[in-house]
Amino acid sequence: MYDAIRPILFKLDPETAHNVTFSLARSAQAAPGVLSLLRSNYQIDTPKLSTTLFGLEFANPVGVAAGFDKNGHALGLLAALGFGFIEVGSVTNLPRTGNQKPRLFRLEPDQGLINRMGLNNEGPEAAKHNIAKLRRKALASNRKPMIVAVNIAKTHDPQILGDKGIQDMLDCYKKMAASGDFVVLNVSCPNTAEGKTFEDPEGITPLLEAVTAERKANNPHQPLLVKFSPDSTPFNLEKTIEVCERFDISGYVMVNTSNDRSGLQTNGGTIEKIGKGGLSGKPIHQRAVERVRFAHKLLGGSKPIIGLGGVDSAESAYEFIRAGASLVELYTGLVYQGPRLCREILTGLAGLLERDGFSTLTEAVGTEHH
Ligand SMILES: Cc1cc2nc3c(=O)[nH]c(=O)nc-3n(C[C@H](O)[C@H](O)[C@H](O)COP(=O)(O)O)c2cc1C
Repeated sequence: MYDAIRPILFKLDPETAHNVTFSLARSAQAAPGVLSLLRSNYQIDTPKLSTTLFGLEFANPVGVAAGFDKNGHALGLLAALGFGFIEVGSVTNLPRTGNQKPRLFRLEPDQGLINRMGLNNEGPEAAKHNIAKLRRKALASNRKPMIVAVNIAKTHDPQILGDKGIQDMLDCYKKMAASGDFVVLNVSCPNTAEGKTFEDPEGITPLLEAVTAERKANNPHQPLLVKFSPDSTPFNLEKTIEVCERFDISGYVMVNTSNDRSGLQTNGGTIEKIGKGGLSGKPIHQRAVERVRFAHKLLGGSKPIIGLGGVDSAESAYEFIRAGASLVELYTGLVYQGPRLCREILTGLAGLLERDGFSTLTEAVGTEHH
């Protein structure tokens, strides 16, 4: 069905297309019978692909990346489409409308997107409400609720900096942590006027001091992950991970969108006209896999990594897994290929594991190093 509506959606401005899709999704998930129809069409049982990480049982390793459902409005639908988990957010302590439009652009020849949304979201209350609703509904129908992570970021506001920035993120953590099966700290959004304020050893130290003190006091066993960009140098990444390890971070999400525009097929004039923003999709895939490989080696495989950046097939998901990711997520691939992609990746991954003689997904994680 997505093949039929994609040409229409792609005639619309990309943000409008996303909003239209979301309105349809929200109506669909409220209509009786639609979710069970979707479940029977999209969900498949893949016991070899299930995995337990940080004490959480993931039915499968394919998740929805942060930014796709920032406020959790379509969680029922995304669960029915077969995803193993989702990151809701980024949620910020104060609701924000984000940057001026247009702020989302398609790079069709590259199968990529550029966005400068600017952390638009409805704030903690809306996200909390929607996550609670998903759990209530699953419980009422005797189904295991999909794993939901909350991804939090600093409120986009150049006035909220330094200690105020840390307090802002801490306040958001306090409001949101209890709603998530795990929490992701987004320290790598490239789309704020103030820039990335925490993604280096000096910036992240006071943030982790504040957040992990709160975690110790109130959610000591809840997994806490940090999300990185593909743009920092390996040296900086190594030093930043070293700091995270001192604070007992449970795992890493790699990668966010990129400011780098090298190697694109889309013509230079178009790229220049689009201007600032984070690049996602196929053009960042190889760099994202390299980052995962680097971190997996550095950590000796001791911490789970969620790999993302241009996952658009079972093969591209498998590359992340062989490089050291235990889970993968998608955003841009969903825009280009539609909701069928999750099921396609799961079926394809099961075949790739069998081809290579692995009896479970966990066995394949990081095996390209051996
Ligand atoms: C329109 C858009 C909005 C995004 N918003 C967020 C966000 O709020 N928080 C976040 O951590 N990442 C956000 N991301 C980044 C994605 O989660 C992901 O890291 C990135 O797009 C790479 O994955 P992909 O190539 O599968 O899209 C956003 C990406 C896009 C395209």
